Amino acid sequence: MEEEVSRLVDRLTLEEKLRLIRGAADPEGTATGYVPGVERLDIPPLRLVDGPLGVRAMGERATAFPSSIALASTWDPDLAREFGAALGREAAAHGQDVVLGPGMNLIRVPHCGRNFEYYSEDPHLTARIGVPTIDGIQSEGVAATAKHYVANNQETNRYDVSADVSERALRELYLPGFRAAVEDGDVLSVMSAYNRVNGTHMSDHERLLQDVLKDEWGFDGVVVSDWWGTRSAVAAAEAGLDLEMPGVGIEAFLPEEMPAQGADDGGAELPDLDDLEGMVDSVDADAGGGPLPPIPEFPAYFGDPLREAIESGDVDEAVVDEKVRRVLRLVDRLGRLEGDAPEGTLDTPEHRRLARDVAVEGSVLLANDGVLPLDGGDSIGVIGPNADAAKLGGGGSSEVSPLVETSPLEGLAERFDEVAFERGAEPIAESSFFNPTEDGQADADASIEDAVALAESVDCAVVVAQDDATEFRDRPDLALPGEQDALIEAVADAAERTVVVLRTSGPVTMPWLESVDAVLETWYPGQADGEALAAVLSGDADPGGRLPVTFGRSADDYPTAGEEAFPGVDGVASYDEGVFVGYRHFDAADVDPLFPFGHGLSYATVEYGDVTVTETEDGFEVAATVRNVGDRAGTEVVQVYAGTAAAPVPCPERELVGFEAVSLEPGTETTVRIPVEREAFAYYDDADGWTVPDGTNDLVVGRSSRDIEAAFRVEC
Ligand code: BGC
Repeated sequence: MEEEVSRLVDRLTLEEKLRLIRGAADPEGTATGYVPGVERLDIPPLRLVDGPLGVRAMGERATAFPSSIALASTWDPDLAREFGAALGREAAAHGQDVVLGPGMNLIRVPHCGRNFEYYSEDPHLTARIGVPTIDGIQSEGVAATAKHYVANNQETNRYDVSADVSERALRELYLPGFRAAVEDGDVLSVMSAYNRVNGTHMSDHERLLQDVLKDEWGFDGVVVSDWWGTRSAVAAAEAGLDLEMPGVGIEAFLPEEMPAQGADDGGAELPDLDDLEGMVDSVDADAGGGPLPPIPEFPAYFGDPLREAIESGDVDEAVVDEKVRRVLRLVDRLGRLEGDAPEGTLDTPEHRRLARDVAVEGSVLLANDGVLPLDGGDSIGVIGPNADAAKLGGGGSSEVSPLVETSPLEGLAERFDEVAFERGAEPIAESSFFNPTEDGQADADASIEDAVALAESVDCAVVVAQDDATEFRDRPDLALPGEQDALIEAVADAAERTVVVLRTSGPVTMPWLESVDAVLETWYPGQADGEALAAVLSGDADPGGRLPVTFGRSADDYPTAGEEAFPGVDGVASYDEGVFVGYRHFDAADVDPLFPFGHGLSYATVEYGDVTVTETEDGFEVAATVRNVGDRAGTEVVQVYAGTAAAPVPCPERELVGFEAVSLEPGTETTVRIPVEREAFAYYDDADGWTVPDGTNDLVVGRSSRDIEAAFRVEC
């Protein structure tokens, strides 16, 4: 293979080489990114398409799967692999070669507008879900892209903000997902992030791109820039960026009608076209050499500016050859040089089932005083400003237009005999970049009084609430927008029983928690929203999910509460919390979370029997016997956390190092065995690198990071 690739590189002219490392307009108009091939040498074009939640081929439809955070909530790597494979098949069916996902960024800031596209605040869970997703996509002859490398943890000022972060936090928290994508997932492509890390834009970051990603981890695939995220010609070329995207102006990507700007209705304030262009225009042309090309060629650093740099001797042509080699290697690994292109499948019964299964398994039952599951004969009042529409996803590049969808109202009406609906409040605006809706959605008739009247007349009120998250913008706070808190409180006062269903991108505050009987978090459940919800609320299925993020009581509970930490001051977000992100922070600061990381209830009643730890060649094996003593089937997620008490530096009290989800029929038991390598105890030392602290450390086994069933001291 390498021979064939080298042979091609030798035969390409410089002009042809440059065509292979910079995007161009897709003649078919469906791809998010397009690399024209070289017909003369039978090098086919390459099509790249968003994104993590389903295929967003322009103007086309595809299965709208649940959001990535829902997938992570399943704690089920096998399901992630099935999802990845389905995504790969759908991309192939749309004639695409590369999926621009999954998003492997750590969830650092609870407000981040893209948290629904990411997995978790924990690097182990991120890797354990991301790797099989990548593997699934690539098993279908389509490349995956781990994005956005690295420390792209907020949308505010995302093109410029510098994540000022210690080497230790990078190594322990932000890099491991990407490292696993490369070393365990053999990911074919990695997208560089927009932001800067410790002052340097990621597209120019030689240490993180060349030294760490390529040299240290052995990544031999393609580093693709984020869209208009390349900032220089020479510096980027030498730092290890391989492919500049999209290579054409932003106009080519805008929906025909731009969404309203600066809407004061709580909807998105999407970026102004001028701002985006200004952002690129304002980049210092001297930063990496090469003048800024004028529109419409902008931004095209890997076009004329790079050619001129080669001609003047500033950049060695070998640097370009290496990039071309990587692009051709990817094309070849997909079989495209031999003319193989998988046909793929779209919207199959299997994909529909999978969209539903992930939504069910990713639903997290946060609280339940026994009201759930509901009885099929119960009369249900469905209440909620948007309960008559499926929550497909958040706004931005991950938007997917499905072929079918079920709203909560439709799903429940199908499953229960008696269902009535009241909106209760004005619809919550849903930020969308590609499917902007008119402001005409407002429902003048919606009133809390009508919702209360319905709540009084039914056996159970089901209030469906949601947030509004989008790429380009972080959530202003963690409250449910609009009148939803007041609506829930009023309904809970009036109804005999109240179940709150949350469709949110991450944690929200719950001032009404004590007044309601159950809370189910379904994230953005995708096209199967209502179907999955009905299955869970009726007890046809167990809500299998566990939280991949900590729910605090308020935004102040998080380590990013100060403005230096988020959104940053003078263009710098200080990651001074170091490795104490998410539950690591809540534990260290002794803050009582509203719902801890790893939490989630089941309809089964699971008891723990024997839990043991034995030493193995590589480390340890935890064995835990779990028994379902209830009369309903359900899921238990056995979680193993390590504590490095013997370390000479401050370390988190516990860190997730292993887990397994098991389904248990009533009256059955099983013993799960979870290996924990000695390296799982390692911390990163600036001088010595990864270091396993000699001495007595801790291993704990629990149902969540705060609900511990057994604790052990182990000698490392
Ligand atoms: C996003 C990427 C996406 C790209 C192409 C960017 O705005 O950050 O995640 O893949 O656009 O749509």
